[in-house]
Parts: sequence; structure tokens; C-alpha cells
Amino acid sequence: MKFEESKVLQHLPKQFFANLVAKVNAKAATGADVINLGQGNPDQPTPDFIVKAMQKATADPADHKYSLFRGMPRLKQAAADFYKREYGVDLDPEKEVAILGGSKIGLVELPFALLNPGDTMLLPDPGYPDYLSGVALAQVKLELMSLSADNHYLPDYQQLDSKVVEQAKLMYLNYPHNPTGAVATPEFYQDTVKFAKAHHIGVVQDFAYGAIGFDGKRPVSFLQTPGAKDVGIETYTLSKSYNMAGWRIGFAVGNADMIEAINLIQDHLFVSVFPAIQDAAIAALNSDQSTVKTLVARYQKRHDDFYAAARKIGWEPYPSGGTFYAWMPVPKGYTSEEFADLLLDKCAVAVAPGTGFGKSGEGFVRIGLLIDEPRFTEACERIGKLGLFKK
Ligand SMILES: Cc1ncc(COP(=O)(O)O)c(C=O)c1O
Repeated sequence: MKFEESKVLQHLPKQFFANLVAKVNAKAATGADVINLGQGNPDQPTPDFIVKAMQKATADPADHKYSLFRGMPRLKQAAADFYKREYGVDLDPEKEVAILGGSKIGLVELPFALLNPGDTMLLPDPGYPDYLSGVALAQVKLELMSLSADNHYLPDYQQLDSKVVEQAKLMYLNYPHNPTGAVATPEFYQDTVKFAKAHHIGVVQDFAYGAIGFDGKRPVSFLQTPGAKDVGIETYTLSKSYNMAGWRIGFAVGNADMIEAINLIQDHLFVSVFPAIQDAAIAALNSDQSTVKTLVARYQKRHDDFYAAARKIGWEPYPSGGTFYAWMPVPKGYTSEEFADLLLDKCAVAVAPGTGFGKSGEGFVRIGLLIDEPRFTEACERIGKLGLFKK
């Protein structure tokens, strides 16, 4: 028998990173010493105290049973306490927190949980490619908010087409921003709340890189904005702050209706997350956050090392305020994909072309700061030999 995928699945976007990984693997198979700056997978291990909490929890028979459908009340409490302590935000743990098996799941299922086929949603361009999976699964209409360096990669709400704005029901934001490292200001979030209220648009702010701010500046949470909970939610993940990307745990916080929609769809898709992982997440969230400080210091050093190495060859980075990425301009005469191919081919340096994150990513490539020196210097020296940048 032969089976065909459903029409919905046939409309899923191509996985952008699968193509990049194939190219990098093909290059490495030639024996080249590839410096891979293309991906976003945290390279450091999960802090030991979290691993130990997980080990203890896996030995507890209570953690072997089905979880409550909506996750452990004590994890929701830990998430609420975390937001209170870190951002001064008050949350009702039962009504305003939803446990997610990684924030990607929440971001992909949300359009399906909140919108009807044919409804309109707004996504940032450039932006995290997986948002597009949610658009395809929910069969909603996508409108892009084109972001540019001129406006610090923040959407300019005045510039959006008024017809699109009137139709839009949901909007995604992501600060600190993957792929550019741009950060949002409290004023921008205040404008966002006003805009969302005026046009009845739900806001989802993806705070995946919330812990990673540079130069001592801490990224602000959208929920710190007065009125934010009336219009939207924020998603948070333990993947980046605690190097737990493989564990699959995160949460969404904010507007009670949106949280209920997430919980309802998840009642039908999952039985929450393995309880031992939830217990380990509690240990992480309730900790003194000293491991997060150490991690941010490591990313700051990498950011400084990479910027210094790039500037030495005349390659000026976009001034990023957070995340573990650097957003680098492409020299004249190349598209971002051509330049990424050239770097892999001639320098054995893998980078992600900006267009992998949307049309407005043209003219840039994204560098992942997920290795230590001396590899940044080596990568930049190899690239410098191409002679494409003016010093
Ligand atoms: C902007 C952004 N949002 C969300 C995610 C998903 O993170 P997770 O599903 O591990 O929580 C990522 C992962 O790379 C990301 O870059």
C-alpha cells in the first residue's frame, strides 16, 4: 500500500537547517577542518545540579506515572516565582502559566489553538523559521513584518498596510532577536500594547534568549509592560539559559485566555512532559541563577572575541544586544546564500545565510557564537584571506 501525506503536511515549509547541515556534512566528508558557525545548538553541558535533580527524580516512582495533563502545579508555581523574582511580574500559576515540551511546541501549536483557517497572522521577517510550521498547520494567512537595521529590527507599526492590520488576529515578536541579536526597549513594548489593543491583535513574544544580554544590559520581559497580559503572552525556554535544549522543557506565561487555549490543545496532544524533567526544571528555575550568570559571561567573551577578530579583517558586525548570534553583512556582489556557499567552499567556515530567516535577511549571514577562541580568530583569518573587506 502507498500512503500520501495529508494536504496540510504537504504544505509544510522545507526545513531550512536540514539543507545547511547537508552542505556542512558534505564539506566535512572531504576531510576539511570545518569551523561550524551555522547552527544554534548550545554547546555547553547542562549544569550539574540540574542533572543531579533529574537523576534523583528518575529514581522516584511518583515521577514514573502519567503527569497531570497540564503539568505539575509545583512547576507552574516555580515559573510564576521565577517571573516575580527576575522581572517583578505577578502570575497566577494555574491560569497564567502553561507548561510546554520546549517553546517550539507552543509557538507551533498556538495558531492552531487560537485562529481559524484563513485568519491572518503577522510574523517578523527575518525571524525564526519554525514559526512558519504553525502557519501551515493552522492553515492561516501569513503577513510579514519586514524588519531592518534602520529601525533596529523592530517592526514599524505605522508602516504596516492598514488592511492587513485590520485583518490580523495574532502577531509574533522575538526579542532578543534570532537571527540579528536586536533587543526591544520598554517604549517599543508600550507601543506594542497600544497597537495590539487598538486593532485587537494577540501578541506572542518569544523570549527564548531572554537571559542573554550583552554589556551588562538585561533584556526586558514583554510582561513588564503595563497592560501586556491583556493582549498577549511570552514564551520562555530552559533550552538556552540552562543548556537544556535536548530535554524539551519550557513554558508560556501571560493572558489567561491564550494560556487556556494552549492547555486545551495540549490536553489532546500530550500528557505533559516526563515528570522527572519537570522536577529538574523546578531545580533550574528555583536556583540562585549563578550558572546563568557564568553562561552569559561566556557568551559575552565569545561575542567580544568574535567582534574583535571580525573587525581585524574589516568585517563590521551589526551591534547586537543579546542572543548567541552575530549578524554580519555580506560584501557587495554576493547574495547571502552565495556568500555562505563561498565561505564553506573556500574557507571551510559554515554560516547561516540571512535569507534562511526570510527575504529581509538578504545582505547578511548569521554566525553562532557556540565555540571558543581560538576558532573565531582562525575563522576570520581564513575569511580575511579572501580579501573581500576593506580595512
Ligand atoms: C527564537 C527561538 N525561539 C524558540 C526556539 C525554540 O526553543 P525550544 O523549543 O528549545 O524551547 C528557538 C530555538 O532555537 C529559537 O531560536
